[in-house]
Amino acid sequence: MDKMIKEAINVLKENDRGGYTVPTSRLYPFQWNWDSGFTALGLWHINKWRAWLEIISLLDAQWENGMIPHIVFRQNDPDYYPGPDIWLSNNEPPTSCLSQPPVLASVVLQMVEKGTPYDSRKAREIFSRLMASHRWFMESRDPENSGVISTVHPWETGRDNCPDWDMGLKNVEVPEELESYTRRDTMHVENQQRPTQTEYDKYMSIVHFGKKVGWDNNVLYNEGPFLMADPGIQFILLRATKDLLQLATHLKMDEALNEINNWVDLLTTGSQWLWNETVGGFCARDIRTGNFSDGITNASMLCFYANVGNELQQKKMGAHCERILKKCKYAFPSWDPEHKSFDKIRYWRGPIWLIMNYMIGKGLREQGFDMLAKRIIDDTKSLVDESGMAEYFDPIEGSPLGGKNFSWTAAIYLEMSSAEGSEQIISDLAL
Ligand code: GLC
Repeated sequence: MDKMIKEAINVLKENDRGGYTVPTSRLYPFQWNWDSGFTALGLWHINKWRAWLEIISLLDAQWENGMIPHIVFRQNDPDYYPGPDIWLSNNEPPTSCLSQPPVLASVVLQMVEKGTPYDSRKAREIFSRLMASHRWFMESRDPENSGVISTVHPWETGRDNCPDWDMGLKNVEVPEELESYTRRDTMHVENQQRPTQTEYDKYMSIVHFGKKVGWDNNVLYNEGPFLMADPGIQFILLRATKDLLQLATHLKMDEALNEINNWVDLLTTGSQWLWNETVGGFCARDIRTGNFSDGITNASMLCFYANVGNELQQKKMGAHCERILKKCKYAFPSWDPEHKSFDKIRYWRGPIWLIMNYMIGKGLREQGFDMLAKRIIDDTKSLVDESGMAEYFDPIEGSPLGGKNFSWTAAIYLEMSSAEGSEQIISDLAL
């Protein structure tokens, strides 16, 4: 285990670009939003100020309207498409024009709760930034104040090609004037492990539309080519909002409590809209048609992390969890292995992602599903012990997939090892 801890520390050091960490070199040469959040959790065990810097550098790119962008381009890099010259965000530093699942408040709360007065001071400095980003989600992605958070692009969900989005993407037309482009991702990773060309054309078509309307969130909501609700974003935001409430209490930011409490109530109510009675579980849903996706994903399983659902709903989700785990050697697949669209190696259509396992494991444990939580956490560590710091893993074979030397995989490994008593070993090896 010490060997893997050392390797995880090295991955984080090698992916450090001076104040921010790239997910992995070549394939993802910039700073990504939720990657940085999870990476900070790992960095914190090595070097606290560097962990805070990870978050502060991400917030440095926050838009005036509160949105924290999904990619921050601090330099151009021809190895990646679509880069800053395509997004044309027209700000400093250049960024993409979408967001990603908002994990920051949860990460910050954890660093404060485990930390020293230094950590509370850093959290106090950025508290209003976190508030602004939550406000952005509540206003821009839920203009109807329904408590259901929308997403205008699969990239915003962080689960790019999950079958959840197939129904929404079906309606996205590829305009004739879409600039021709060359994908870069498939030059680094095998085709079969990445989204298809048809999906990529649709992703680029939504970007094309967004650019045409100046990324006006109202237009995107009312007329955009894609509008779905994601259990991942919904549950992560709800959890982060509850964590923000605790943070506000801890930091004595009393004036924020009312606003945050209202968000918690609204999101809790809205989450019920994602309950698919036919499947007996929480699923993605098309906002305009009301049609449900029909598969259980690793994002569905975040209902425990957000503590959403009544007793019966959580029991049903626990049963899905058990059923799915029986079908896989390793936990937890990104798509139901009993569903026809399951593909064990294609990105978010089957493979395991460690950051999701981390949140699922935490939620299950908090809600008293201890056996399931243990299975997920044990599997997560075994995957790294056996196959290294891959981007994602095959749930049937356990083999490493996608990019190598991945920051958030390394960070989650450190975080989980530390939770199980290796804190001292990590700090000794980090020296
Ligand atoms: C992919 C993932 C996304 C992640 C990014 C960088 O696009 O789907 O969730 O943030 O890579 O690692």
